[in-house]
Amino acid sequence: MASFNVAAFLFFLGLLFGASFAQLTEDFYDQTCPRLPNIVRREVKRAIESDIRAGAKLIRLHFHDCFVQGCDGSVLLVDAPGIESELNGLGNLGIQGLEIVAAIKAAVERECPGVVSCADILAQASKDSVDVQGGPSWRVLYGRRDSRTANKTGADELPSPFETLEPLKKKFEALGLNSTDLVALSGAHTFGRSRCRFFNGRFSNFSGSGQPDPTLDPTYRQELERACTNEDTRVNFDPTTPDTFDKNYYTNLQANRGLLTSDQSLFSEAGADTVDTVNLLASREGTFLRFFRRSMIKMGNIRPLTGNQGEIRTNCSRLNDLGAQPGHDVM
Ligand code: HEM
Ligand SMILES: *[C@@H]1O[C@H](CO)[C@@H](O)[C@H](O)[C@H]1NC(C)=O
Ligand SMILES: *[C@@H]1O[C@H](CO)[C@@H](O)[C@H](O)[C@H]1NC(C)=O
Ligand SMILES: *[C@@H]1O[C@H](CO)[C@@H](O)[C@H](O)[C@H]1NC(C)=O
Ligand SMILES: *[C@@H]1O[C@H](CO)[C@@H](O)[C@H](O)[C@H]1NC(C)=O
Repeated sequence: MASFNVAAFLFFLGLLFGASFAQLTEDFYDQTCPRLPNIVRREVKRAIESDIRAGAKLIRLHFHDCFVQGCDGSVLLVDAPGIESELNGLGNLGIQGLEIVAAIKAAVERECPGVVSCADILAQASKDSVDVQGGPSWRVLYGRRDSRTANKTGADELPSPFETLEPLKKKFEALGLNSTDLVALSGAHTFGRSRCRFFNGRFSNFSGSGQPDPTLDPTYRQELERACTNEDTRVNFDPTTPDTFDKNYYTNLQANRGLLTSDQSLFSEAGADTVDTVNLLASREGTFLRFFRRSMIKMGNIRPLTGNQGEIRTNCSRLNDLGAQPGHDVM
């Protein structure tokens, strides 16, 4: 009897957690939008040709989408009646790339109107961004639907560049991502830029110590100080190969050349279990790419809306029937 109850309980747990991603599949759009992968990839390549940071912007949007109420396109909604935009949340201030998402969405809508969610477009575009810039490719799972809500508070509480390892781990663990995932996903900081405001506190009197951050290489620090003419200057995350998706993020950490406190803490906190993972991923390109792919799929599975939940937005920035909400005229 007792063992039956344990089995039943485990089965129930399996339903609870399994149900949250069991419905995403590789072939979801095979009948309804068979050319989706080609369209998105073409648009991502086009965007990168005119903006080398386009890929970095897109994958960051997917990360911020998945971390607030799951991968449901919520990050893309702008302020509207009933919607307090996540874009105004602390973690999203100054985030870029919405116009790139709009261009991809428009291309998809031209061929398959009303079929493909914005959340799935972010997942697909992230994979394309990584592989166009030299990283791994993987099979994207589809079937996410777009939310009819946003949660600005969630966006206020996104992982912060000033955080150290323990709080970062907690935020990832709350979403089912362990410390291996934290290290692997942080590897996305192998491309893209950060504004100086997020790391210039490391240059002097770090945490009131009277000294610069001891885990920041002094030569690199001086380079950064020279580059940071003001708070909003954008600096490469990876000083070695700024726009290539490779394992240099980890070799940089080994050399005390992680840009953010959150980056360097993966390697520099004494006794942390993340140190071994950093060393492992620094050692071979193929290992990093395999780990990164696995963790991206895991992140992309966070609490999607499926079936009849949510909707398929036609415009990623707003709900379909905004016009029907109180306070708006219905034409
Ligand atoms: C571990 C916690 C993380 C923290 C604290 C963090 C923080 C940041 C910060 C502060 C920036 C600079 C933003 C700006 O200047 O406007 C940034 C940029 C970026 N982040 Fe993260 N991030 C984290 C994890 C991730 C993950 C998991 C991914 C993707 C898988 C990612 C991808 C990126 C990319 C590609 C950029 C560059 C964007 C651009 O060039 O516009 N980050 N991140
Ligand atoms: C919004 O996110 C916050 C922080 O994660 C959470 O505490 C809150 O319950 C969420 N609100 C809703 C309505 O889901
Ligand atoms: C994290 O989860 C993966 C499976 O997704 C597992 O292989 C890995 O060993 C876990 N890492 C830790 C530190 O538990
Ligand atoms: C360093 O920071 C501490 C605490 O914020 C402050 O009391 C001290 O005056 C600062 N020292 C310098 C040299 O700015
Ligand atoms: C999508 O919605 C946003 C926000 O309402 C609006 O600014 C934008 O013009 C719309 N895009 C299209 C193509 O209608």
